[in-house]
Amino acid sequence: MNTALIETIKQAHTQRFGAPPAVVAYAPGRVEILGNHTDYNEGFVLSAAIDLGVGLALSPAGGAACTVQALDIPEEISFDLPVTAPVKRPLWVNYVRGVVNKLGARGRIEPGFQATFAGDIPMGAGLSSSAALEIATALALARLYKIAVAPLELAKIGQAAENDFTGARCGLLDQISSLNGEPEALVFTDFRSLKVETVPLAAEICFLLVDTCVKHSLPGFADALRPGEVVSAYNDRRAQCERASAFFASVLDHPVTALRDVSGDEWHAFAARLDPITARRAAHIIWENARVLEATRLLRAGDVRAFGELMFQSHHSSQTNFENSCPELDFIVAQARLLPQVLGARLSGGGFGGSVVLMLDPRDADQVGQTIASAFVHKFGHTCTTRVIRPAAGARVL
Ligand code: GLA
Repeated sequence: MNTALIETIKQAHTQRFGAPPAVVAYAPGRVEILGNHTDYNEGFVLSAAIDLGVGLALSPAGGAACTVQALDIPEEISFDLPVTAPVKRPLWVNYVRGVVNKLGARGRIEPGFQATFAGDIPMGAGLSSSAALEIATALALARLYKIAVAPLELAKIGQAAENDFTGARCGLLDQISSLNGEPEALVFTDFRSLKVETVPLAAEICFLLVDTCVKHSLPGFADALRPGEVVSAYNDRRAQCERASAFFASVLDHPVTALRDVSGDEWHAFAARLDPITARRAAHIIWENARVLEATRLLRAGDVRAFGELMFQSHHSSQTNFENSCPELDFIVAQARLLPQVLGARLSGGGFGGSVVLMLDPRDADQVGQTIASAFVHKFGHTCTTRVIRPAAGARVL
């Protein structure tokens, strides 16, 4: 956690509202290491909370008014309680409003509050700055208004806020990862039971994140944390997975409530009866789930090379089956494939832009980052950014 960031937030809050905050909460972003779009298919994911996040300072205020200061934008917005619906602008405030609405259904949020937040997660990089804001807000509000909520409930509140107040039908991956991170470990989540385990990482492994700085967004949505075009492409993929799952439920003689319940053999037996696009979307999810289980076993056995190979396979499936990649992501993965120091590489998160995560020895990170960055600028005429990210502790009240 960036302690200077937290100090800046506290000072800005004190300066603006005339007294130090009553509560400060911090929530990290996340990186998805393996398990792409498997969360809402009740499958498996390996992820990590990262050492970049969002801090939020909070104080009580009289009356119904709530004031939220976003230091990074910078912008200040006021609204009155109760919060019942999202607003058209600015879109970022809907993450806060959504949490107020969902948490408010479990306890009393009144009178109003004053909040100040800032973060160091690059927006649009696929590192879940939106979930970090939701979770930091939910943690701080729950503490201030003395609303008892277990971590899994907090994650669901963040997800519901995002689903209903921003229109993104995201799963629970981002919120669960932000809450359950641990240093030097990956988070393994079963999204049916919602059971979370941590899997230790070997010291000779680190992750290098290469951000394409491409968002494939529509200009009108530029102020959203999650660009509008990406939201609709994401929701499309989710709908296709649901269609595939309903089809398999109708032809298989065992219960199917999600693609998690469909095996590779079953896909081979029936996929020809699906339209080709839906069949490919289902293939991505079915084999991605198998890859996560296999990779978790390999990680525990210390076979990082075979683990990395599954990351490359995951990207290939995103590129060809799920079609949630883009030329910039594909180029970075192809470059990474040429470098023997890189153990594995794949797009991380929703896709359609954002970042590639590479797995490698920390001693190779600088050299690999420079090689890829210079090939990238040569090819696309604009820069990408590279940074080593470390699995970090989960969200908390400070
Ligand atoms: C986004 C969503 C998550 C998950 C990933 C893809 O980050 O918010 O719920 O679906 O995409 O794995």
